[in-house]
Amino acid sequence: MDEKALHGAVEKAVEVLKQGGLVALPTETVYGLAADALNSEAVAKVFAAKARPHKHPLIVHLGSMEELSQWAHNIPELAWKLAKQFWPGPLTLLLQRRPEVPEAIVGGQKTIALRIPSHPVALAVLKAFKSGVVAPSANSFGHLSPTLAEHVRQGLKEKVDWVLDGGPCCIGIESTIVDLSRERPSIARPGGLSAEALAQVLGFLPERGINAQPVPGSAHAHYAPQTRLVLAKPEALESCATQLCAEGKRVAVLHPQKMALPENAQWVCIPEDLPQLAHRLYAVLHELDKQRFDVLLTSLPQADGLGSALCDRLVRAANASL
Ligand code: TXA
Ligand code: MG
Repeated sequence: MDEKALHGAVEKAVEVLKQGGLVALPTETVYGLAADALNSEAVAKVFAAKARPHKHPLIVHLGSMEELSQWAHNIPELAWKLAKQFWPGPLTLLLQRRPEVPEAIVGGQKTIALRIPSHPVALAVLKAFKSGVVAPSANSFGHLSPTLAEHVRQGLKEKVDWVLDGGPCCIGIESTIVDLSRERPSIARPGGLSAEALAQVLGFLPERGINAQPVPGSAHAHYAPQTRLVLAKPEALESCATQLCAEGKRVAVLHPQKMALPENAQWVCIPEDLPQLAHRLYAVLHELDKQRFDVLLTSLPQADGLGSALCDRLVRAANASL
């Protein structure tokens, strides 16, 4: 997007937000469904558009770090350190919320999730809007997150006032949510920023949700394609595909290396490199959902770095389709 187009897009997005409308906005992780966080009708529209249960809290997106204390209080020193190191970027901080934060945003939680995205379009909109913007992933509840404007158009159709097309999201997987509302920081959702990167600032490798209060939805099936997803060990993919085909199923096998497959199975090449896999995964699943496969078969990548978030999403998607 050139300078002039960016300027026009930012102006239009701010206008729609000010009027209480919904804008699908590209971020570096996934497309967000943006609305003015302080406009309760606009926030209600977000829940309605996504068919999202009201108890599922939303992330408030900010344009600058100075806004942090308008939403959170008792902010620990580590939160500032993480913010300084990783914002703007794929990190969401879970902090104690100020009592005046509207209940509808946080679904009854005592915490608030905050993030400054690094995508130039999202950041420019937030800086121009100068106030908090809620932006859950711009998909229907429980479905795959969108990493292209086209995914939003297909999924939410006329429920969005404007889809701002900023091309593909570069990271391709949602932000990492770090819970700093309790004594020991932990990861509430693995995402686009690795635990190893966080450890460099925290001084220890944060664990997964040991202290995190379970939020509605966190244990449920999420991030799922429509087609059934089955996981198998890499060495079992061929035999698993053969068995499924023998049952009369049409199978897509997602794997970096080509393999010998029966006639009713199709090999779909996915990147081995983790950042590239994160960048492509949702788009591949969106694409395969449009084709008539009965089963998508794949294995989990290595679980370090971005692999932790990828494993999380694949396991949830597989559970959802059991
Ligand atoms: O990368 C992202 O984080 C994207 C982009 C658009 O910014 N947004 C996103 O939002 O993934 P959403 O709503 O699809 O997922 C946010 C997750 C939900 O699982 C929600 O339960 C959790 O964050 N969450 C939000 N506020 C919370 C809170 N106060 N306490 C605990 N969990 C919270
Ligand atoms: Mg989501």
